[in-house]
Amino acid sequence: MKQVVLITGGTMGIGLALAEAFLAKGDEVAVCGRSAAALESFTHLHPNALAVQADVTKPEDRATVLEKVTERFGRLDILINNAGTFVERDLAGEPDSTHELEQEVAVNLTAPIQLTAAALKRWPAMAAIVFVTSGFALVSPTRAPTYGAVKAGLHGFAEGLRRQLAPRGTHVLELLPPTVDTAMNAAYAGRKMPPAEVARVTLRALARRQPMALPGASRLLPMLLRIAPHTIKQMVANM
Ligand SMILES: NC(=O)c1ccc[n+]([C@@H]2O[C@H](COP(=O)([O-])OP(=O)(O)OC[C@H]3O[C@@H](n4cnc5c(N)ncnc54)[C@H](OP(=O)(O)O)[C@@H]3O)[C@@H](O)[C@H]2O)c1
Repeated sequence: MKQVVLITGGTMGIGLALAEAFLAKGDEVAVCGRSAAALESFTHLHPNALAVQADVTKPEDRATVLEKVTERFGRLDILINNAGTFVERDLAGEPDSTHELEQEVAVNLTAPIQLTAAALKRWPAMAAIVFVTSGFALVSPTRAPTYGAVKAGLHGFAEGLRRQLAPRGTHVLELLPPTVDTAMNAAYAGRKMPPAEVARVTLRALARRQPMALPGASRLLPMLLRIAPHTIKQMVANM
């Protein structure tokens, strides 16, 4: 059966690859993002999908996205909380960044929790909810401790919500991508996984109802952290 999937930040990077993977298997897809140009180019490529201009940090925009999904499809089966930002911060050295910090926490942590709560109010028995965290949810990066904090927070939310929604049959999946070839990593010269491969592993984890999707280098991380926590933490934190 066709599923209705909403992907925040589905206009580029991992979100776009996820949108294209669901469209390729015949599902109905809605995406949101802030940039009008990115939404236009998404619609040009995928005229049958729904593209909504929305900043997930704004309550009124979150409500608009859910309303448009309701108008167009009448229901939502899978919510994918993907929109996020990676910000390097030297907290000892940087000038006042109060507003930027609030925005970073809002997009990466508060917005996915609020959007999930609002979606569950409308559709209490969705088939699945996906949270895109990171390997840095398990080991906080030295160059971006606030990113480590928000992703660890989302990891905790996903874990508790999974238990809370289990009686309703809603599958809660956490996706922990490794370093992926997206705009977020444009300056990174090391090895990067193609976004389409992240999408493939995610759809497989959804089909198998796994609690976590661990593409590529993320696959061994939880196990290595149990075997050699000190060495692995030092290695990952300084990536
Ligand atoms: N790339 C990696 O190596 C990597 C690794 C681990 C985890 N992740 C996580 O994977 C997710 C996607 O990353 P990516 O690399 O694909 O990022 P990306 O290429 O920079 O794309 C981010 C997407 O999110 C949207 N977005 C950002 N802020 C938004 C907001 N306030 N409201 C609505 N949409 C917003 C962007 O569109 P607009 O700018 O137009 O709003 C864009 O569509 C993030 O949560 C990131 O933390 C990425």
